[in-house]
Amino acid sequence: MTDICLQTDADIPAIESLMAEAFGSSRHERSVWNLRPGPPVASLCLVIRNDDEVVGSLRYWEVQLGGDIILLLGPLAVRPVMRGKGYGKQLIAESLRRAKKGPWKLVLVSGEVDYYPKFGFVPAAPYGIDWPGFIEPERLQFFELVKGALASLPSGPLPVRALSP
Ligand SMILES: CC(C)(COP(=O)(O)OP(=O)(O)OC[C@H]1O[C@@H](n2cnc3c(N)ncnc32)[C@H](O)[C@@H]1OP(=O)(O)O)[C@@H](O)C(=O)NCCC(=O)NCCS
Repeated sequence: MTDICLQTDADIPAIESLMAEAFGSSRHERSVWNLRPGPPVASLCLVIRNDDEVVGSLRYWEVQLGGDIILLLGPLAVRPVMRGKGYGKQLIAESLRRAKKGPWKLVLVSGEVDYYPKFGFVPAAPYGIDWPGFIEPERLQFFELVKGALASLPSGPLPVRALSP
């Protein structure tokens, strides 16, 4: 049986092992981690369980984009043996549904170019994102939680910065 719910403290070891399996032990050296000095958004820390085992995890952090606070999606990972069964898709769809109830207008992700458009993400490169560190610009993608949010962004460069922990 599959179930999506908020992560608990008891899930943390399973989540860390999942992340190490997906991204390797040097994952925290990636530039995206510059934007995650504090805790994730608790109401959006989701796990997906299959027969009580954590098989996928998705978290979000708040970041500053110009004058706004927006959501940064990730990390997202599904256990290798469980991939291709729709778990990633379910985690993203459910998290975006929950995020729409919050105060944020936009989600930013640094992720697979072919994966996120199917959920409605669009390239962020045209908006002149100033990312803190190395990034392949085509990986940056936006999702509008509020229709029209992208049209109301000021013209770039738009700095993305971490919030103080
Ligand atoms: C990316 C990841 C989370 C996808 O999880 P998953 O449960 O296998 O994905 P799903 O089964 O929900 O796949 C949904 C769709 O995306 C496609 N897809 C899966 N992984 C993809 C990838 N890396 N790139 C492009 N498309 C992908 C699937 O083919 C499927 O397409 P369909 O809807 O047309 O059938 C998983 O492969 C993973 O953990 N990868 C390693 C960590 C990682 O790269 N995380 C994402 C960082 S951006």
